[in-house]
Amino acid sequence: MAYYQSRPIAGRHFLQIPGPSNVPDRVLRAIDNATMDHRSADFGRMGSEILGNLPKIFQTKGPVVIFPASGTGAWEAALSNTLSPGDAVLMSRTGQFAVLWEDMARRLGLQPIMQDTDWRHGADPAAIGAELAKDSGHRIKAVCVVHCETSTGCITRIEEVRAAMDAAKHPALLIVDAISSLGAMDLRHDEWRVDVTVAGSQKALMLPPGLSFNAISTKALEASKTARIPHAYFDWGSMLEFNRTGYFPYTPAISLLYGLNEAIKMMLEEGLQNVFARHDRFAEATRRAMRVWELENNCLEPKHYSSSVTTVRTPAGHSADNLRAVILDKFNMSLGTGLGEIKDKAFRIGHMGDLNDLTLVGTLGGVEMGLAVAGVPHRPGGVQAALEYLAGNARASA
Ligand SMILES: Cc1ncc(COP(=O)(O)O)c(C=O)c1O
Repeated sequence: MAYYQSRPIAGRHFLQIPGPSNVPDRVLRAIDNATMDHRSADFGRMGSEILGNLPKIFQTKGPVVIFPASGTGAWEAALSNTLSPGDAVLMSRTGQFAVLWEDMARRLGLQPIMQDTDWRHGADPAAIGAELAKDSGHRIKAVCVVHCETSTGCITRIEEVRAAMDAAKHPALLIVDAISSLGAMDLRHDEWRVDVTVAGSQKALMLPPGLSFNAISTKALEASKTARIPHAYFDWGSMLEFNRTGYFPYTPAISLLYGLNEAIKMMLEEGLQNVFARHDRFAEATRRAMRVWELENNCLEPKHYSSSVTTVRTPAGHSADNLRAVILDKFNMSLGTGLGEIKDKAFRIGHMGDLNDLTLVGTLGGVEMGLAVAGVPHRPGGVQAALEYLAGNARASA
């Protein structure tokens, strides 16, 4: 019996939460390699290969550092390497992850200036620009935004945030949480002049949890020289020093690095633009199914739709968590729970990372059957709509 099953059941578990996501066999095989000496020449070669290729995924020519941590560690690394206690940071409360990041910022001694949203849209670039324009003394040292709010299924348009910051002629750093968007949606670290892009391994990068990332701009590196929030394990300086030759300042998560090397290769072989197009297609197919089911998308603004996760609201009086429990019990599929304000009012379909048309069809099939079994009012035929869309927009052959 596999570890995740409380009872014997044939077939593979469908892990369709919005991260951790399914790990492809190719990556599992790589992780399965024997542990090696992390001070050996072989390791240095592998480290250099990874550190050389990883920036391509972030669309940057600058360095990307890797910490053995979940995404939360990379949040802390980004804030503590660039900022000092008492600094003001402008943040948008776009959903549960923004709330958690805000909490971390406070605990690190920062002073967040919060802009609220209804949890059904991304952050508002105009509001960010207006707040920065008021800050003539440049008290605000960083704008922190979550690219894809995994709780709400809404994205913030980072290029528009960048444009608003430029229009306000404000020197704040731009720190972006791309934990559930990197490798699923376009995120141009260099072109959009993001100063720190924060990411994690367990979402569209197709790895287990345990690695987290900071892509660092020259401006952020400069800021790190005077940042005073205490940090040691997460220090960029020593990490970058060791990384120059492919090594790490402490024992790295060697097995996960085997996997990362393979996952990067898979993404580059597919081509980043093709990876994004695949995610867009799956998200659109999911929304088409949802519309036929007459269930409501939590995200209200089409230009804020996420391509990695769709947050679906259940009709009033119908528990989303009960629906999820029924789907797990009857069809061996895990869907994401509603978080924070939308707990039990919504469920989340993860469609990121290692999935193809048939994985998505199976996922949507499990949802449609679950709706029927759990007695959630809906119109049948959502899967059929998804099938028609996918067949009518079949991906180009490899
Ligand atoms: C957007 C976003 N930010 C931050 C986190 C926190 O990352 P972790 O749970 O890997 O520490 C998550 C996790 O799901 C997330 O989706």
